[in-house]
Amino acid sequence: MSQPPRTITVTGAGGQIGYALLFRIASGAIYGQDTPVSLRLLEIPAGLRSAEGAALELTDCAFPLLRSVEVSDDADTAFAGADAALLVGARPRSAGMERGDLLEANAAIFGPQGAAIARSAGPDVRVVVVGNPANTNALIAAAHADGVPPGRFSAMTRLDHNRASGILAAHLAVPVSDIDGVTIWGNHSATQYPDITRATVGGASAIDLVDAEWIRERFIPRVAGRGAEIISVRGSSSVGSAASAAIDHLHDWVDGTPGTSWTSAAIVSDGSYGVPEGLVSSFPVRSVDGEWRIVDGIELDEFSRARIDASVAELIDEREQTRSLGLL
Ligand code: NAI
Repeated sequence: MSQPPRTITVTGAGGQIGYALLFRIASGAIYGQDTPVSLRLLEIPAGLRSAEGAALELTDCAFPLLRSVEVSDDADTAFAGADAALLVGARPRSAGMERGDLLEANAAIFGPQGAAIARSAGPDVRVVVVGNPANTNALIAAAHADGVPPGRFSAMTRLDHNRASGILAAHLAVPVSDIDGVTIWGNHSATQYPDITRATVGGASAIDLVDAEWIRERFIPRVAGRGAEIISVRGSSSVGSAASAAIDHLHDWVDGTPGTSWTSAAIVSDGSYGVPEGLVSSFPVRSVDGEWRIVDGIELDEFSRARIDASVAELIDEREQTRSLGLL
């Protein structure tokens, strides 16, 4: 039986990740083959033509599930009635830009977008922040979205999660579908902690199959530095994999994580695992009834604790800088 149509807003829709996302969303990758979708694309004026071009191509695909595509440079118009919002558009770091400048430039985007979501989005809206610095952008958006529960905001660390699963599977020459229980902790940045101490490979413990030195010297740096590796090999940042991870994140959020398995997402901390309440940090999460829930009861060894603390310290610092600039 056909489900009611869903409205999905994509910001930065005229950019690279936007272009890779739209066709998959329109083909039903998030809500499934029984749910029609309407797309609303938000761009800044300089990106409108590119988004309009993508909209023309979407028409040309004749996707049976696609009801409509609207392009706008007005946030309230673009978020009107949204069931889900993928916040991809962000201000990139340009030459000579300090971290404070980057946080400030992005706060000027994500604060007003959070407020527009509160005013105009649908009552069940779920927000995934992709644009960097993703965790702190999500924190800022949530802080400006009066009346929207903080649990409706998340930042994407699913790309890191998928990279970790893929790299582990390739190292062991097994299908990635055999891998379970990987976790990304902390910030979507080089300080992130890709953790395989609880991971399983075809049911066996991953740490019994790989040596500790490989994990610390090769695996962790490679996952955390994968974005730079892609740029050096491809000559451009991750696009297809980032779009695919955004789809996975939103799909699992609305549809639920299967069985006992978990994924990783950056969500507003409830104080679990010593991560200060209110920070947007990556955790092992399950989605139950459309809500992210942090997987509890994981015992952390000394190495894991130190790695998580280091990444969380960076998030605290970003929050402090944001506060001191009067952006929170
Ligand atoms: P891009 O530069 O190709 O596209 C960004 C688009 O956003 C542009 O079309 C621009 O006009 C638009 N934009 C800028 N400000 C906007 C605003 N206020 N409202 C609406 N649209 C706006 O960049 P790309 O490759 O698509 O990447 C987008 C973001 O995703 C970047 O911040 C990038 O760092 C981040 N990213 C995050 C990943 C993650 O794992 N969380 C992975 C890969 C990229």
